[in-house]
Formats: sequence, structure tokens, C-alpha cells
Amino acid sequence: MSRLNLTRLRQMKAEHNKIAMLTAYDASFSHVLEQAGVDVILVGDSLGMVIQGQESTLPVTVEDMIYHCRNVVRGSDKVFVIADMPFMSYANEDQAIANAARLMAEGGAQMVKLEGGAVMASTIEQLTARGIPVCAHLGLLPQSVHRVGGYRVQGRDAETADELIRDAIALQEAGADMLVLECVPAVLGEKVTNALTIPVIGIGAGGICDGQVLVLYDMLGLTPGKRPRFSYDFLADTGTIQSAISKYVTDVKSGQFPTLEQQY
Ligand code: KIV
Repeated sequence: MSRLNLTRLRQMKAEHNKIAMLTAYDASFSHVLEQAGVDVILVGDSLGMVIQGQESTLPVTVEDMIYHCRNVVRGSDKVFVIADMPFMSYANEDQAIANAARLMAEGGAQMVKLEGGAVMASTIEQLTARGIPVCAHLGLLPQSVHRVGGYRVQGRDAETADELIRDAIALQEAGADMLVLECVPAVLGEKVTNALTIPVIGIGAGGICDGQVLVLYDMLGLTPGKRPRFSYDFLADTGTIQSAISKYVTDVKSGQFPTLEQQY
């Protein structure tokens, strides 16, 4: 068994081969995604909303994440698997180390993801020093939804855009090996992607990012309510789950997704 690894993901950035990433939360979808050529599965804390029916990601626990991550890992043997660290599971460095270790040892994740800017740099240093690869997450931070007052585009003005670029560089210098960049103008997505040597995976961050990620249930048109502008219903176009995922992979890799309609 040999899973995709960070060396190859860095190479993909260097070679301008786009990285196709999707969320998944169980073994069956994990298998389908792998068969369709998805490179990276994110066991996102979005499971709080799309699996558990919660209003936000905040109630998700480390136990929930371990359970879903373990199932995703069981359903695949080639994809790279990232597990989200849930809300307040990395509020201090000792907690972060203990919970990240559980996500890897019990959940089988190859990397953990945490939200936040330069304030997270020392936590990332502590995790990476212990052999735990970290994916940072900037832009719209769903775990801070109550602080920012909703799910809205970030980094629209020069000041916040510059701050976000400084944060991204600080997180890379602290040892982050990947960055998810959510809901920022495409021009900012491009600047961050060009400023970093680590892969930048966009979700509503424009087409220049090194890869794309979407919430699986959004791109299958299953999530009730209004779909975010940056997502797209691939199932409506294709008719089967397998072909929807394959089309997503093809469109990400060929640069056809996102189109201008899915960018800010
Ligand atoms: O939890 C999640 O699914 C995520 C994506 C929005 C990137 O963090």
C-alpha cells in the first residue's frame, strides 16, 4: 500500500499539475473518490453541517473526527488523507499535540488541518517538530463564524489582503506543508499561490491556486439551501456520482474549474 505523499504534492505544485481534493466522511465515498482520481481527501469538520445537521462546524468533536477519518482511510489506499482539527481542539499547544497525535494514530490521517493566521505559527512549529504535518487554513475561517459575523468573502481590501499574505508566509515559515485558502478574491488567491512554495488549495480562491477543494455534498447538489457561489453541482450535469466526481477531477486538472462564475 502506498499513499500519495507530501513530496509528490510539492512536486505537483512545481510541475503545475493541479491537485484535486474533495471532502469525504465515510469508506464508500472514499473509495469512489479514489477510483475517480482524487489526489487528496479532506475529512473536514464540515461533517458537522452535512452529516450531523448542525448549524456550524463548532459542535464537532475530536472523537467525531477520528471516527470519520478512520472510515475514510479504510475505504482507500492511495489518496492522501487530511483530518480537520475541530474547534478548540488546538486552543493551546499541549492540546494541539495530543489531539493531532490522536487524529494520526487512531484516525490514520497523514496530515492535520487547523484554522488561523500568524497566531498559529508557534503551534505549527510544535506539531511539525514532532513529525505531524500541518495544513494551514486562511481566508474564511468557518470556526470563527461568530466572530466575523457570517460566511463572507475575506481579504477584499488592500490592508486585509496584505495581512493575509503575511500570515500565509509566516505559516509556511513555521513549517506548514499545505494551505487551504477559502473565499478570497481570485487576485489574492493568485498572489498567495505565487508567494508560497507549499501547495495552496483554493475553495472560492480563484483558478490560479495549485489545487481545488469542495465540500462533497455541495458539489453533488445534496446540501439544502443556497449553494455557495464558488461551488458547482457536478451531479446535475453528469447523472451519476462516479461521473460527477470524475468530471470534477478532469475539470480541476485541466483548469476548467473554477470558471469566472465561481470566483470573486
Ligand atoms: O471542513 C471542511 O470541509 C473544510 C473545507 C471548507 C475546506 O475545511
